[in-house]
Amino acid sequence: MSCQVQSLWEAYKDFFPIGAAVNAETVKTHEELLIKHFNSLTAENEMKFSSLHPQDGVYEFKDADLIHDFAKRHNMKLRGHTFVWHNQTPEWVFKNEDGTSVSRDLLLERLKAHVHDVVKRYGNDVYCWDVVNEAVEDKTAQYLRDTKWLEIIGESYIQKAFEIVNQAAPEAMLFYNDYNECVPEKREKIYKLVRTLKENGVPIHGIGLQCHWNIFNPSFDEIQRSLEKYASLGLKIQITEMDISVFTFEDQRRDLTEPTAEMIEKQASLYAKAFKLFREYKDVINGVTLWGVADDKTWLDDFPVRGRKNWPLLFDVEHNPKEAFYRIVQF
Ligand code: GLA
Repeated sequence: MSCQVQSLWEAYKDFFPIGAAVNAETVKTHEELLIKHFNSLTAENEMKFSSLHPQDGVYEFKDADLIHDFAKRHNMKLRGHTFVWHNQTPEWVFKNEDGTSVSRDLLLERLKAHVHDVVKRYGNDVYCWDVVNEAVEDKTAQYLRDTKWLEIIGESYIQKAFEIVNQAAPEAMLFYNDYNECVPEKREKIYKLVRTLKENGVPIHGIGLQCHWNIFNPSFDEIQRSLEKYASLGLKIQITEMDISVFTFEDQRRDLTEPTAEMIEKQASLYAKAFKLFREYKDVINGVTLWGVADDKTWLDDFPVRGRKNWPLLFDVEHNPKEAFYRIVQF
């Protein structure tokens, strides 16, 4: 990799921190890129409930500690991801010993204990938390997603979660985080949820837009409309999980061994337009995180088509900057 390449986080130091999702492996295999280009980290899986607390009374902090240490050593910010989610939360959390469902009070107690233990370990080194992830339903007209949290606690689980985290970590910025954030029907629901929380005095400070996009979708118009709408809430916005797949969600093709020139161009153009827009919103946006570091390791290699290679990030499989990288650092 050429030493002449400009540092991404330095290029953005007057705008917002630039983050990457990492795991216990990529902090080693992608160390050079991380140190040079990023000044914020999110644990890809290691701070989720099931990773940290797989069994009642059993904590596994090893991998999260590794990421935490790396961030500290390199003076990077650390986002916390995530406390309340319908995925990657172990079954024991919702069950009594006899297998019956826990009471509302016990579930809240368990969440509180978990949050306190995690916050005790990482303290203010985690400067913001995705308190609730993906609570809004996006396949039907229903408002909130059916989850164990909703079923056992009721709609107030979202408010309660923010209060619990705020009590444990009064200095941290607290976010609601979701995907398909630019799809009009879902955008309305996310907006409604966050607005209601804010109006009810719930300690929420920001909205996390995952931004798992592809080169065809969402349209730039829809992205612009979405940012404008979310910004009108008067809270901070973070782009939390950005990547731009070269395939539409429905596209099942498996024949490509490398991205076409057209894909790379379309991807670069969307990254460039999006980052220009993010810069225009620098007073509202206080973090932009990519969901990975380089194309050799991305969750999209397994989703939605298992084992099909994808190339969604700013650095290629050999860790060299892609066209998208050059377009976002030169402005
Ligand atoms: C969601 C979650 C992330 C991650 C991605 C897929 O967006 O918020 O933690 O699991 O899915 O990797």
